[in-house]
Amino acid sequence: MKRRVLIAPSILSADITSLKEEVKALEEAEVDLIHIDVMDGHFVPNITFGPIVVENLKKITYLPLDVHLMISNPEKYASIFVDAGADIVTVHQEASTHLHRMISEVKSAGAKAGVALNPATHPSCLEYVLNEVDVVLVMTVNPGFSGQSFIKDVSRKIEELDEMRRKGNYDFLIEVDGGVNGLNVKLLRECGADIFVSGSALFSSKDYKKTVKEWREKLK
Ligand code: DX5
Ligand code: ZN
Repeated sequence: MKRRVLIAPSILSADITSLKEEVKALEEAEVDLIHIDVMDGHFVPNITFGPIVVENLKKITYLPLDVHLMISNPEKYASIFVDAGADIVTVHQEASTHLHRMISEVKSAGAKAGVALNPATHPSCLEYVLNEVDVVLVMTVNPGFSGQSFIKDVSRKIEELDEMRRKGNYDFLIEVDGGVNGLNVKLLRECGADIFVSGSALFSSKDYKKTVKEWREKLK
């Protein structure tokens, strides 16, 4: 994947009763990905979407679907989400016992493979999979809910990952997720982030197109 700025709205904060209109508005706003937060009520306290939502979104948009699995036992479900139409499937390092195998399975099922890290997890645990992985998702809030505040200390982790990427000459993308807004996108970009997930900040703005444009200006 090429390194550039990618904006990925999280539909968890969209108006679910008008999902089709919301997706059209995101297409018009020229976002890059649709981020889908899958929660199982076990790995995280909340319960959200299953593969049927991915399957139906795939029918109504050309935008790539970025599926973030906040679930226990991702090995049981990851390929089901690929079959449903996910373009990127990200599993949590904390939930996966055989992470290397997990990444290979997602890739051989035909999607890009991502690994997510909770705020307290050190990036060194990924050292031996950085060559394989397409995306490293750095959680900048504790997973489970939208609308939480960005944990500023985690910005150091993004810098560390960026450094590991440079030293190892890897080409994975760094995705940031949680509390991302117009005030911190520039800092996150400077730390090394490529993919910017946003739920509440983007969806609470009246004009998505205008907001995305403003963010891109800051991310230049
Ligand atoms: C949190 C989810 C995020 C969340 C982002 O567990 O992974 O994707 O929806 O929402 P905001 O941008 O409101 O923090
Ligand atoms: Zn997410």
